[in-house]
Amino acid sequence: MRPNGAVIWLTGLSGAGKTTISEALAPLLLAQQLNVELLDGDVIRTNLSKGLGYTKEDRDTNVRRVGFVANLLSRNGVIVIVATISPYRSVRDDMKAMIHNFLEVYVNAPFTVCETRDVKGLYAAARLGKIKEFTGLDAPYEPPLNPDVTCFTDRETVEESVAKIMDALARRNVVQGWKPDASPRQSARKHSGGFLSPRQQKVS
Ligand code: ADX
Repeated sequence: MRPNGAVIWLTGLSGAGKTTISEALAPLLLAQQLNVELLDGDVIRTNLSKGLGYTKEDRDTNVRRVGFVANLLSRNGVIVIVATISPYRSVRDDMKAMIHNFLEVYVNAPFTVCETRDVKGLYAAARLGKIKEFTGLDAPYEPPLNPDVTCFTDRETVEESVAKIMDALARRNVVQGWKPDASPRQSARKHSGGFLSPRQQKVS
């Protein structure tokens, strides 16, 4: 029997909250005794996709590499969380077609909100012209037309966003006995053992 792996693919602008949601989601999945792996854009670009830039061609190559690895893992029962901007619809749709049990999550925050957050200072740098082809500024972001889940991170809490994803996974029988009223934050603290967050992955 095919193991019930899945790929939870988070797409959205830089600073929309993809990594934050991933880091809150992973411990809940681990608490379900699932094998979980996180493929985070910033981390992937320091190893698997090192040397790639931000042209459409390079981004599509990056997304295909991530999708290839996610597919390998998920078909062996791993629950893979992908957190990449993945701005181009057509290559995302290719990944959706290739991967069994693909959950597309649109991490939706308006450009102006992401720019105000500017966690990494990249929006300011892009405005000054120090970064070219910046998503949402001088490079496009093509939102999903029919995502499985949309997280509105400008008006919902991380817990609410994570709960939406868990609900969708429960509907697909990827997780069992998920109680939406359990506090993700509490569970996240309780069950974080063994999982390396993107920040930890970066320094290791
Ligand atoms: S993707 O477009 O190829 O999917 P990915 O998610 O891997 O992008 O990497 C995006 C990250 O690279 C951003 O979160 C940001 O930290 C960094 N970055 C550097 N330059 C750019 C740029 N021009 N546009 C968007 N992100 C950039």
